[in-house]
Amino acid sequence: MKRIGMLTSGGDCQALNAAMRGVVKGLSENISELEIYGFYEGYKGLIYGNYRLLTAADFSGILTRGGTILGTSRQPFKYMRTPDENGLDKVVAMKQTYHKLNLDCLVILGGNGTQKTANLLREEGLNVVHLPKTIDNDIYGTDVTFGFQSAVNVATQAIDCIHTTAASHNRVFIVEVMGHKVGWLTLYAGVSSGADIILLPEIPYDINKVIKAIKKRSDAGKGFTILAVAEGAISKEDAALSKKEYKKKQEQSKYPSVSYEIAAQIEKALGTEVRVAVPGHTQRGGSPCPYDRALCTRLGAAAAKAILDEDYGCMIAMINNETKRVPLSEVAGKLKTVDPNCRMIQEAKLIGISFGD
Ligand code: F6P
Repeated sequence: MKRIGMLTSGGDCQALNAAMRGVVKGLSENISELEIYGFYEGYKGLIYGNYRLLTAADFSGILTRGGTILGTSRQPFKYMRTPDENGLDKVVAMKQTYHKLNLDCLVILGGNGTQKTANLLREEGLNVVHLPKTIDNDIYGTDVTFGFQSAVNVATQAIDCIHTTAASHNRVFIVEVMGHKVGWLTLYAGVSSGADIILLPEIPYDINKVIKAIKKRSDAGKGFTILAVAEGAISKEDAALSKKEYKKKQEQSKYPSVSYEIAAQIEKALGTEVRVAVPGHTQRGGSPCPYDRALCTRLGAAAAKAILDEDYGCMIAMINNETKRVPLSEVAGKLKTVDPNCRMIQEAKLIGISFGD
C-alpha cells in the first residue's frame, strides 16, 4: 500500500495535468493498493487540510488538458515561516496534514519558489519528489521545464501574427514576452518568429543601440521592425542601479512595463509610431504541445519509479534527454539564467539579430 499526496503550486502552465497523469499511471500500473490525495490550490490545501481522495480515473483523459485539475495558488516561500493571520504555523500544519494522512510521499509540481518549500519540507523530514514546472524554464539542474515549450509555441504564434500586421502598416512593434527575471522564453520565441531585436534581462540593453538597429533596417528599405522584449528586460542604466533604487524607479514610472518605456523612447528618437502587444497569460494557457506531453509523461513515469524505489528528496530532471533524480539540496534556491555568450545568442547575432548590446 502506498499513500501519495499531490499538489500543484505557483503559476499554472499547460502540462501540469499531463505530468500528474504520468505519475499516477506509473504508480497504479505497478502497485495494487494505492491512495492518491490531491491537495487543492497548492500548499494552501496542505496547510488547511483541503484535499480529496482521488482515483486513477481522475487522471484519465487529462493528458491534453491545460491548467491543473487540483487548482493552484502562490504561497511565497519567504512567508512560509510566518504564521498566517490566525497565528497558524504553516510548516507545522503541513506536517500535521502529511502525518494525519500517513503519507509515504508528497509529489510537488511547481517552479522555483515551490521547489524551495519542497526542500524545506524535506529538511523537516517529509518525503518529497519535485517535478519542475514553469514556462520560464529557469529551474536550475534540469535542461528543460515543462510548460516552457508550450509557452514558446504561444509566444511565437503571437509574434507571427504581429509580423503580418506590422508589415502591412510599416510599423515598429514590440511584443512583450513573459519569463519573470530570465529571458529563455523571449529568446526562443524571438528566434523562432524571426524577431529583429531581442531584449533579455541577462543582456542589459543600450537604447541607442536599439534605435540604431531599427534605423539600419529602415535605411535598408525594411518598413517594419519586430522587437521581442522580455518582461524583465532592463537598460544598462537601470542595471547599474541598486535593487532598491531600481524598485523605486519602477514604482514611480508612468509606464505599465518596460516595453512601453522602450516604445516611447523609440517614438521620440525616430518620430515613428510604435505599438506594444502583450500576450500575457495566454502564454500559460491552452493545451500542452506534443513536446510537453511527452516530456511530462516521461518525468511523471520517472517520478513514479523514484517513489517505487523509495528514493525521495529529489527533483526529477531531464538532462541530455535522460530523466535523472537530482537532490533538492543541490538545486533549491538556484536560478538558471541565459548565458549571454551561449551559442544560440552568438548564432542569432551572426544572422543580424540585435540584442541591444
Ligand atoms: O512564472 C510564470 C509567470 O507566468 C512569469 O512568467 C510571470 O512573470 C508570472 O508568472 C506572472 O505571475 P501571475 O500569474 O501571478 O501574474
